[in-house]
Amino acid sequence: KRVVVLISGNGSNLQAIIDSMERKEVPNAQITLVISNKKEAFGLERAKKHNIATKYFPLKPYLDSKTRSQFDLDLAQVVNGETPDLIVLAGWMLILSPNFLDSVKAPVINLHPALPGQFAGTHAIERAHSAYQEGKIQHTGVMVHRVIPEIDAGETILSEVVPIHPEDTLEALEDRMHQTEHRILVAAIRKILIPRVASSSRAEIKTFDNI
Ligand code: GRF
Repeated sequence: KRVVVLISGNGSNLQAIIDSMERKEVPNAQITLVISNKKEAFGLERAKKHNIATKYFPLKPYLDSKTRSQFDLDLAQVVNGETPDLIVLAGWMLILSPNFLDSVKAPVINLHPALPGQFAGTHAIERAHSAYQEGKIQHTGVMVHRVIPEIDAGETILSEVVPIHPEDTLEALEDRMHQTEHRILVAAIRKILIPRVASSSRAEIKTFDNI
């Protein structure tokens, strides 16, 4: 199974996917390309260290001459060139328009550090931390969802509550959130890439075991 990962920054979630694949937790799957819109994204270094192909694909040249929609179309071409089975947005900070989503031929999933319907957009962890301090929420969470044109709103694949404690600094909450992100993103990729064993065949396996 061929996976393309889009990043914009540190790439700790990319690292979690790389590590899980090396541990064979996602059987017969490999990342064939990591794309970043930021040249200095540390995630590019992480990919190179694991001999994974990388591509720097900046938005800026499109803002000068062409148009934003051309960026999305050209990005889709690069992604399709990998004939991926899955496209993962892991800390990708650009909004992808229908130009991209309708052009790519594989499902697109996104990791977002908030629960479905909460804190869509950027700085979600910071906003949750403030909302907690104002007594508006008791916890926050992380979700992986299918990407549709509406921001952070596609069908939820997996989500998990992340507790917030009274003494939590923003950093403490961020650390806890990232640990959950790494785990839930790998679980979501497994859920999509590993075909569910039909219940009947599981029964057959059961009887086989009994022989
Ligand atoms: C993560 O919190 C991710 O959910 C958000 O940006 C952060 C990037 O993390 N979109 P990393 O680049 O994977 O470390």
